[in-house]
Amino acid sequence: MNSSQPIGMFDSGVGGLTVAAAIRQILPNEQIIYFGDTAHLPYGDKSSESIVYYSRKISDFLLEKNSKVILIACNTASAAAYEQIKDYVGDKALVINVIDPVVEHIAEFYPGTKTAVIGTKGTINSGTYQARLREKDPDCQVVSLATPMFVPMIEEGFIFDDISNAIIRSYLSKPELKNIETLILGCTHYPIIKNQIRKFFNFGVEVIDSASIVAGHLHNVLSEKKLLNPQKGNENQFYVSDHTDYFEKIARIFFEDKINLILSDIWK
Ligand code: DGL
Repeated sequence: MNSSQPIGMFDSGVGGLTVAAAIRQILPNEQIIYFGDTAHLPYGDKSSESIVYYSRKISDFLLEKNSKVILIACNTASAAAYEQIKDYVGDKALVINVIDPVVEHIAEFYPGTKTAVIGTKGTINSGTYQARLREKDPDCQVVSLATPMFVPMIEEGFIFDDISNAIIRSYLSKPELKNIETLILGCTHYPIIKNQIRKFFNFGVEVIDSASIVAGHLHNVLSEKKLLNPQKGNENQFYVSDHTDYFEKIARIFFEDKINLILSDIWK
């Protein structure tokens, strides 16, 4: 591995672009190769066997692009496939997931708090966040809630309106989330509605999203391994496994910039 190689990252679709946007800010020299598996979106309802299969194939693609890192920029895939991908990739690249950096952040800055995690059914039912939080911070009280409507809601552009407010209210007023002190947005789509969520709790709950925490963690890992690119890398590349004008349009909302999606044929 050497410092000029790109950062490979993937998500089920465009949600992981929230993480890509944070990496671009914190690590502007790094070239990003992004893969959004839009042909198989959503991962939240898929079996772990399918997610492991997709993740392996996408990792092959990112390794062919010479990536020094495979960043699983999807909570559902991080919960279902991290260990398998780490074994599969071996020493060809560093493998990073989006769950562990957030858990470490909570254990360091909010120990012993009543912490809730929300995410897709796949992420919540896997119990990964809950187990890792209890492991790192035995004093914290962990509660969880699957909020599967948030992904289609955001993807359909219901972000700042009556519909999104009603769905946010309906989920977040569930008894499970009563008296929480910290809330983990355990899905890479959710930073898009972070402000509305903070507002729902009258700004009295610490709402944590993975984007900047994961980008900061990536910075530390690259720096420790002497793999930070000292000069500006090549242009970022964004691949999708199914291309529509619609994905192109919402990708801009997630990446907060103009973006050109390239259709990949890995599933053909
Ligand atoms: N972005 C995925 C995650 O972080 C959720 C979207 C999906 O269900 O595919 O879990």
